Amino acid sequence: MHSVKKINEDLYWVGVNDRKISLFENVYPVERGMSYNSYLLLDEKTALFDTVDSVASLQFLENVEFVLGDRELDYLIVNHMEPDHCANIGAIVAKYPQVKIVGNIKTFVMMSQFFDFDIDSRKVVVKEGDTLNTGKHTLTFVMAPMVHWPEAMVTYDTVDKVLFSADAFGSFGAMSGNIFADECDFENKWIDDARRYYTNIVGKYGVQVTNLLKKASALEISKICPLHGPVWRKNLGYIIDKYTKWASYTPEEKGVLIVYGSVHGHTENAAEILAGLLGDRGVADIEVLNASTNHYSKIISESFKRSHIVFACATYNMSLFPPIQSALHELAEHNLQNRSFAFIENGTWTPASAKLMSEILEKLKNNKIIEPKVTVKSALNADSYAALEKLADAIADDIKA
Ligand code: FEO
Repeated sequence: MHSVKKINEDLYWVGVNDRKISLFENVYPVERGMSYNSYLLLDEKTALFDTVDSVASLQFLENVEFVLGDRELDYLIVNHMEPDHCANIGAIVAKYPQVKIVGNIKTFVMMSQFFDFDIDSRKVVVKEGDTLNTGKHTLTFVMAPMVHWPEAMVTYDTVDKVLFSADAFGSFGAMSGNIFADECDFENKWIDDARRYYTNIVGKYGVQVTNLLKKASALEISKICPLHGPVWRKNLGYIIDKYTKWASYTPEEKGVLIVYGSVHGHTENAAEILAGLLGDRGVADIEVLNASTNHYSKIISESFKRSHIVFACATYNMSLFPPIQSALHELAEHNLQNRSFAFIENGTWTPASAKLMSEILEKLKNNKIIEPKVTVKSALNADSYAALEKLADAIADDIKA
């Protein structure tokens, strides 16, 4: 049975929700599932915006068939060729063989790698600023390279002011009956998944996202239709402000994240005590994460949110404790900038983790290190506790400044 939602008089959501998935891209935990959004415009010509992941082909094709009724599908607009959106292009072509496929030159290179149907006779190649008239609506194509793949583009309906934004403005999480962000308590129930989605999937490409935001700022936008998560029709400034901060690596708030990697509990103890000392100094909304039990995607997401990040790590095999090493490498891969870092190291014979951690993070731009680096030898003692107090003073002062 179909499962579609009306967005505008002639625009429908024909996507799917996936609650069986546990790891998006086989790496990111998605406890709330995923949505794969696809949209269908019923103008004089009909146009489908992207398809969905292969896990939900039957539901998707049924949705498209229901909305089309006895009409043909004239256009398939392909904003993004990653398989969570392109997997059903072949099925659409098989079902609607007369369909014209709209994409840019890079779209069709990728399409020919994923599919072996006759692309050339169907393709409509567009470039920046090109338009397609479907009757009442005119669609304008805007290139968005590396948001999140090189071929990515977004499509703007100049009549209804709808932006089909591809991966931009997306989120982890399946939708539950409400398709609009203003209907589903986004600021409480969705923002953490939206941040984790953005920072991990697109966070590396802040420059390119900023370029897209600049282009979008020149458009009058009434609705944003992303490829994952809720559609935006109210309070667009809220999510655009979040994206502006994330893309420019600007912290959302002055606050402290403490991430620890602890083998036997003594490094954890130091992290907990630092959190308490910071709280005593008036620092609010401190987050403490155990790197062994929190997926690195959460550490990245919380690091993008906050201004100050403390890593506490045991020395392990004369290197870093693996969960911290992995998290730091991922942070470096995601280009985190404009942050203040501090370090707590532990080691029973040769503590070395503070130096190793700073070596990974020093590749990143516009970050600073807050001193002192705290060294714990096996377990906290009076000297290392005093060093923690100094570090708490320094962080609290830096936040207040
Ligand atoms: Fe949701 Fe980059 O694909």
